[in-house]
Amino acid sequence: MLNVHDFETAARATLDPVYADFIAGGARDEITVRANEAAFSGLRLLPRMLRGSAERDLAVTLLGDRADLPILLSPTAFHKLVTPDGELATARAAAAAGALMIVSMASTVAVGEIADAARAVGGDDVSLWFQLYIQPDLEITEALVRRATDAGCTALVVTVDSPVLGANERNRRNGLNDLPAGLYCENLRDLRDGESGHVRQIAMSPELSWEHIDWLRRTTSLPILLKGVLHPEDARLAVQHGVDGLVLSNHGGRQLDTVPATLELLPEMAAAVAGRIPIVLDGGVRRGTDVVKALALGASAVGIGRPVMWALAEGGEKSVRHLLELLHAELDDTLALCGASGLDDLTPELVRPAGWGH
Ligand code: FNR
Repeated sequence: MLNVHDFETAARATLDPVYADFIAGGARDEITVRANEAAFSGLRLLPRMLRGSAERDLAVTLLGDRADLPILLSPTAFHKLVTPDGELATARAAAAAGALMIVSMASTVAVGEIADAARAVGGDDVSLWFQLYIQPDLEITEALVRRATDAGCTALVVTVDSPVLGANERNRRNGLNDLPAGLYCENLRDLRDGESGHVRQIAMSPELSWEHIDWLRRTTSLPILLKGVLHPEDARLAVQHGVDGLVLSNHGGRQLDTVPATLELLPEMAAAVAGRIPIVLDGGVRRGTDVVKALALGASAVGIGRPVMWALAEGGEKSVRHLLELLHAELDDTLALCGASGLDDLTPELVRPAGWGH
């Protein structure tokens, strides 16, 4: 295993094709899925020379939480689909690598147990964030926030791009519409009678509005990030509503198809928030060079979704750890080759569009 692509190939060889499709797939024609990765290949790096340093500092502090590398684990559902320990394996690997994990509300292990597993490896300094879909029933939403807070999560990532579930036609063709017997959304258990941990409960309120964000702001003292805001005007509104950060994400192309690649949107979004709140970008990040491009254009960090699922499928905890170490090393190399000694040295002058005549 030398890179993310190797993990993808290996995962495909071991996984049930129905679950391989669930992970890789996106909405409709998957135009945005492809666009996310293509946007990174469409940019070139233009390194500076003779600025060498013996060591690079890759650590980042986001909303008070420190991580050893600016590569977060984006929230992904249902880790027990691909490895028996599920999110426990992911959390242990992330803690060992010093990476910040965003726990999906749709985890197949309860957030409290995930946090215990992370702390057992990384101690009390381990940072976990919790991803939340605001539910039609605000009491259930409050209960979820309480579970995350009690578990010691230090920020809430509110996903706002899913008023309905994205139409993944691979899943429809494969007849995948529920979790296999014995797997549940453990955070949702016991919150609603008769649907103990059923996937149906994940769906966010279709009527979500800025008033819900204001309500959440009053309900919790944890920092709030919005995940899925794509329009620069919505980014400005987020700042006005007291939001603490953005995850610039198109859900890996799994919600509305044909939205722009997140990297394409980054310069406009960074201009809209003007440094007032941090931006974490996800979608199509597969290489250390991708991380450098995103940080050069204004992201504070990036997130990875599918690569973690592929590594989990390939070899569980040890493979996720290996994946994070590989990406850490790739990023370190890339910084050295760009003449950067730290993340602050990554500025827009390092990137330019591919093609002649710039
Ligand atoms: C996701 N994503 C996601 N997002 C979210 O807010 N809550 C969730 O439960 C999930 N679940 C989920 C499952 C799987 C299998 C995938 C692949 C993705 C989206 C995820 O957080 C992230 O935005 C994308 O995966 C990033 O794109 P890449 O890295 O997969 O290209």
